[in-house]
Amino acid sequence: MIDIKSEYPSIHNEFMAGLNKCRGRYLFFPLIIFLVLFLFTPSHRCEAEDWQPIEKNYGENKPGAAKILVAYATRAGSTAEIADAIGKKLAEGGARVDVMPVGKVQSIGGYSAVVLGSAIRMGNTLPEMNDFADNHKDELREIPVAYFAVCMILRENTPKNQEKAYAYIKPLTEVVMPVDTAVFAGKMDYSRLTFFEKLVIKYIVRVPEGDLRDWQLINNWAAGLLPKLTNRKKEE
Ligand SMILES: Cc1cc2nc3c(=O)[nH]c(=O)nc-3n(C[C@H](O)[C@H](O)[C@H](O)COP(=O)(O)O)c2cc1C
Repeated sequence: MIDIKSEYPSIHNEFMAGLNKCRGRYLFFPLIIFLVLFLFTPSHRCEAEDWQPIEKNYGENKPGAAKILVAYATRAGSTAEIADAIGKKLAEGGARVDVMPVGKVQSIGGYSAVVLGSAIRMGNTLPEMNDFADNHKDELREIPVAYFAVCMILRENTPKNQEKAYAYIKPLTEVVMPVDTAVFAGKMDYSRLTFFEKLVIKYIVRVPEGDLRDWQLINNWAAGLLPKLTNRKKEE
């Protein structure tokens, strides 16, 4: 049998070069087309499930009652539900409370105290919360402010992870010094993530689904927070 490679090296080399060219043309382009179709066809995009933001008012508008704003930043809704529980608890203690997404707050002029809560994404509080604190820092520095963060690092509630969770809200505390802070374990629901988020969370970071919110802890924090928020002026 003739060994083309050793007997006709030039033919062999030409053949291999042609093959490589074909491989490049016939494998590279279909791969790109496949990827484009996969990423941009709606059935593959797997967009996050729709959910309604929470906007509620609790408590009566009695004269002398503290008027508290609980504003939150969320992507998948679990922080909104925590903000809602905090709002309800503060109202049980006699305050008049508005709970709303931070992006919907028109003014903080009428509030005697503010609670700000953010989901954590990629090690940070959400940008709309950071912008809010920054844009209203002068007014916020005049009244009692509390922060809370909702994150999944606390699925293992170790002192080290607590430390990391509190580090997420440190930049906010540097803008406006709070009267109190809290970090809560959140919820992971893949149906509320976009395709890319699910890819990262499920297959790369490997955070399992689950609702780890401890409502007892959240309610206890809110109940203990009320006296700190109802001090008329911040202690210097
Ligand atoms: C894309 C993505 C990034 C996340 N990054 C972090 C993170 O850096 N640290 C953390 O503890 N949790 C992280 N989480 C978990 C969320 O903070 C947690 O699921 C929280 O409950 C989400 O709040 P939300 O439902 O209000 O959006 C991340 C979640 C997603 C989907």
